[in-house]
Amino acid sequence: MIGTVSLVGAGPGDPGLITVRGLTAIRSADAIVYDRLVSPELLSEARPDARLIYAGKACGSHAMPQAEINALLVELAGQGLRVVRLKGGDPFVFGRGAEEALCLAEAGVPYEVVPGVSSAIAAPAAAGIPVTCRQVATSFAVVTGHTASGEGVDWSRLATAVDTLVVLMGLGQLDAVAAALIANGRAPETPAALIRAGTTTAQQTVTGRLDQLGELARTHRLEPPVLAVVGNVVALRERLGWADEASAAAVAAEIAALA
Ligand SMILES: C[S@@+](CC[C@H](N)C(=O)[O-])C[C@H]1O[C@@H](n2cnc3c(N)ncnc32)[C@H](O)[C@@H]1O
Repeated sequence: MIGTVSLVGAGPGDPGLITVRGLTAIRSADAIVYDRLVSPELLSEARPDARLIYAGKACGSHAMPQAEINALLVELAGQGLRVVRLKGGDPFVFGRGAEEALCLAEAGVPYEVVPGVSSAIAAPAAAGIPVTCRQVATSFAVVTGHTASGEGVDWSRLATAVDTLVVLMGLGQLDAVAAALIANGRAPETPAALIRAGTTTAQQTVTGRLDQLGELARTHRLEPPVLAVVGNVVALRERLGWADEASAAAVAAEIAALA
């Protein structure tokens, strides 16, 4: 009998931010194919006899080419296994989850998608930056910075169309992202933040102006995963005291102790 595949969002980094349904799928899986940004604590929830297969990608180095991942999922399901494809954040936000789902659909493999908490919203929230706020921002967009200097994103339309911009996968392209936004009408002094490893104990947030984005990353020697937030909502961070990294960790520990 053919197995099933669950495309599960692991959440943004803090293992406590996976969904109940995602955790249930992990605990019952025969095989888990997981990505680089997935917390090891989530993998420790797997059955002792489950097969754990790493398919992660670091920038520029591919543990497993996408076509091979797609074929692996089809093959494991073909063996009758209950497979979990565990991906950072939400599977359908720049996670190539759509490609995997299309492949499974084409191959006639029964599959489900278990949405996850995307870093695009969770990392700013954990840093005290709401992506929307009445009278400050009524719209936001999540965009890849990967292709900032090439084609792909229409920066001329995006630059002023939305209030808050969240840029994923842009660490190496921050100068180009900022230049594209400024050239297309965004003010150079727009508040901007870089958040590294949001929601984890290694979370780091630095703030400045849009025209300083690249410099900020270099000065603070930020390593992936990093996302950028551009917009006036960044200024709210100063007033949202809980987001101070030390106090957020203390609150989280207190809540965990109550559980
Ligand atoms: C391939 S995308 C996957 C996004 C994922 N599907 C999601 O919904 O969060 C990976 C990028 O997400 C961002 N990212 C993921 N986790 C992050 C975190 N905890 N803190 C900051 N940025 C993160 C980084 O920009 C990273 O390069």
